[in-house]
Amino acid sequence: MDNLILKNLQVLVGEEELQKRVKELAKQISTDFEGQEITLISVLKGSVIFASDLIRHIDVPVQLEFIRLSSYGNEMRSSGKVKAIDLTLPNLHGKNVLVVEDIIDTGTTANFLTSYFRLQHGIDEVKFVTLLNKECARKHPVKIDYSGFVIEDYFVVGYGLDYGGYYRNLPYVGYFS
Ligand code: IMP
Ligand code: MG
Repeated sequence: MDNLILKNLQVLVGEEELQKRVKELAKQISTDFEGQEITLISVLKGSVIFASDLIRHIDVPVQLEFIRLSSYGNEMRSSGKVKAIDLTLPNLHGKNVLVVEDIIDTGTTANFLTSYFRLQHGIDEVKFVTLLNKECARKHPVKIDYSGFVIEDYFVVGYGLDYGGYYRNLPYVGYFS
């Protein structure tokens, strides 16, 4: 663990602001899905913290599933490829599927998932909730249904997001200056 890097970490979105926005997103989702059930699909590992906070504020019946993808490796730039590590899911026929992402950057992962859910699960309308939206880095168009924060083109860590596997445990979102 490189302590030098930790020293140059600046807060981009603080803990309180994160928690407030997560509650707002959960409220909006609960309102939109009133009288229905949701299957939340958390994309590991990055979205695990966000997903666990989010579900606790959703007040319609929720089922939580996980898939595991990898796109960054140990770099600070998206590889442009999606590696599927575990796509094991139950039958999603007739379910309201809401994919939970930590960040939508180039849109490569979201695009992959849209095709995957359409082709493998027959779901035409998979929805996305993302904590962070790096809109300026988009290479593939993505329709985001719920977006926490639009951010500039920073490489960010914390609250689930990593650099080389570290920093996921930070309670805030930070960037290296
Ligand atoms: P995309 O496929 O380029 O949209 O990137 C999606 C994935 O790359 C996210 O789910 C993250 O896991 C990772 N990623 C993108 N930007 C960042 C970042 O700034 N910090 C850490 N991980 C990132
Ligand atoms: Mg991710």
